[in-house]
Amino acid sequence: AMKVLMVCLGNICRSPLAEGILQHKARKAGLDLTVDSAGTAAYHVGEPPDSRSREIASKHGIDISRQRARQLKAVDLKDFDRIYAMDVNNFQDILAYAKGPEEVKKVDMIMNAAFPGKNLPVPDPYYGGQNGFEHVFQMLDESCSKIIESIRSESNSP
Ligand code: 4NP
Repeated sequence: AMKVLMVCLGNICRSPLAEGILQHKARKAGLDLTVDSAGTAAYHVGEPPDSRSREIASKHGIDISRQRARQLKAVDLKDFDRIYAMDVNNFQDILAYAKGPEEVKKVDMIMNAAFPGKNLPVPDPYYGGQNGFEHVFQMLDESCSKIIESIRSESNSP
């Protein structure tokens, strides 16, 4: 199965949502996809997703409560086929682990799936209220739909 990794700073707000949304869409599409997430920082390792992320996911029929935060590690760039950063800080922190052009090529900012080349960030919702999380959910939902489409067309070509 193709392996996709979602990466943010803490792995408790944005990337757990991205993981849950992409996994949900893959299942619905009958796509064999392995999805995981990680944080560039270690502050929240071992913790479940932020209650506001769990709540917004649940409202949209997705259960992310069994996820636990982990930190990104160098071997992730070897193990995963595609690695999506939420913002440019994550993007640069991920690339710092890359061992060569093959690994660099795997990394992109997630909103580029919906808006190619724009490098739009998924804003960190940690210090805001619940509507920040709804906004993040909608952004990730749009990008994850495009990611599903692109993986489908990739696996349909010779
Ligand atoms: P995330 O949000 O990167 O989307 O998981 C954050 C969570 C925690 C912190 C920052 C961002 N923090 O500084 O603890």
